[in-house]
Amino acid sequence: MQTKLKIAVQKSGRLLEDSLQILKECGIKVEEGKDSLKVQASNFPMEVFYLRNSDIPHYVYDGIADAAILGENTVMETQRDLDMILPLGFSRCRLSVAVPKGAPYTGLQWLQGKKIATSYPNSLQDFLSKNNLQADIHEISGSVEIAPNIGLADAICDLVSSGNTLFMNNLEEKEVVLKSEAWLVASKNRSREADELLDQLVFRLKSVLAARNNKYLLMNAPTEALEDLIRILPGMKSPTVMPLAEPGWNSVHTVISEDRFWEIIGQLKDHGAQGILIIPIEKMIL
Ligand code: PRP
Repeated sequence: MQTKLKIAVQKSGRLLEDSLQILKECGIKVEEGKDSLKVQASNFPMEVFYLRNSDIPHYVYDGIADAAILGENTVMETQRDLDMILPLGFSRCRLSVAVPKGAPYTGLQWLQGKKIATSYPNSLQDFLSKNNLQADIHEISGSVEIAPNIGLADAICDLVSSGNTLFMNNLEEKEVVLKSEAWLVASKNRSREADELLDQLVFRLKSVLAARNNKYLLMNAPTEALEDLIRILPGMKSPTVMPLAEPGWNSVHTVISEDRFWEIIGQLKDHGAQGILIIPIEKMIL
């Protein structure tokens, strides 16, 4: 029987949709596991396990799953030794300490001896220890942000993404304990066959991520401006330059990271570039 890569994803939660989307962009179609906890992927030898977020590191560590897509914050909290294979660029958030608005917070020392509610006791304890602080960590599994309002804690330590939840609960972010994003992680004890499949998956993921971060840039440019424009453009290689039907004009093509493009757009225009087009890239093979 053909070996399949057993990969765990969140059964529900903030990573699920993006996890399935990135697999889909890799050409791997997976049904959402509403009723079934184990689903076969089509177009790739893969079995997807839908598991509770906090259980995933344990399943991967024990080798029940070969790999997983999950937040760095969860890996760090569960303190399981996993191979961190590839950051996936989504579900960016931070684990932060927040206090009620108006609290006389003057700095880290304010936390000394305070009661802090969190679902991340290990990460918080590490942070406090590194800062030579002692606090009363009150572990709760959900709705952490309500704790100060009901007199359960002086502060909280919870995930922050947009900051809306803190705002709605009259809390202010004061210290960042750790930053996190979704990662592809793998069991250190995965089989050789699973490792080969994982390599194939990583190759596809890298192509998808590179395409997401880059754009195809086309513009028209007068010949006398080419030298300056090529100097400004940070392309993968030298840009392609093709003559237009109109003498003295050229079409310039290159690949550029989207962030970088917004930095140099003004310079391109100042040097005579016209008809600038930015086109999404479907896949980019590195
Ligand atoms: C996290 C966290 C906050 C919220 C913060 O919960 O516990 O409630 O996200 O996000 P925001 O800054 O964009 O408002 P999540 O949705 O991950 O679910 P959880 O309650 O299971 O942790």
